Amino acid sequence: MSIRIAPSILSADFGRLEAEIQSASSADLVHVDVMDNHFVPNLTLGLPVVKRIAEVSPMPLDVHLMIEDPDAWAPRYAEVGATSVTYHFEAATNAAQVAKDIRSTGARAAVAIKPATPAEAVFDLLTVVDMVLVMTVEPGFGGQAFMPHVLPKLALLREAATQAGTDLWLEVDGGISADTISQAVAAGADTLVAGSAVFDQADRAAAIAALREAAVPA
Ligand code: DX5
Ligand code: ZN
Repeated sequence: MSIRIAPSILSADFGRLEAEIQSASSADLVHVDVMDNHFVPNLTLGLPVVKRIAEVSPMPLDVHLMIEDPDAWAPRYAEVGATSVTYHFEAATNAAQVAKDIRSTGARAAVAIKPATPAEAVFDLLTVVDMVLVMTVEPGFGGQAFMPHVLPKLALLREAATQAGTDLWLEVDGGISADTISQAVAAGADTLVAGSAVFDQADRAAAIAALREAAVPA
């Protein structure tokens, strides 16, 4: 099975973002964490910065919105150049409409669920999203410990997507490293976010290669 690696720039040097993103160009997507200090207790970056990242990144942008009111904001991230926009189910007022509004721009729509949110909460959305993000840490910070107990949600989502006849990507985010990635892939993840496991290493290409190597044990 082919997998996608999405380095999270949350662990990159924000003072030299363009070079940092370039250093990870052997990956498939660049994961951009937008936090508003309301939905999560941390604050990162917003629309103008994502717009500029989209202009300089050699990789498609996988924007992860950890913000309140994604109903208003999510389509705007698609309009400034994100290839995929992920919003949190827990934050949306009309979760299906958010996905439709993202898709109407031509971008891919994705819905994320926190560790305590059951897979079943998003079953009704599987025909309007292109990806589900299953959080394997509490959203808000990089470098936290992987939560393997959430992984059974991936099989439930895959089964529901197959029944709905949709080609769904399944992403995991949080605590992914060369030690944990094979568990996530074995559980059904095909798109793997890794922040500290890539950007805390001096050689980002080697770190990405190590994740690919570890993803599917020989
Ligand atoms: C956390 C963010 C993640 C974060 C992952 O809320 O959504 O994308 O960067 O960092 P690591 O891979 O270090 O757990
Ligand atoms: Zn993220």
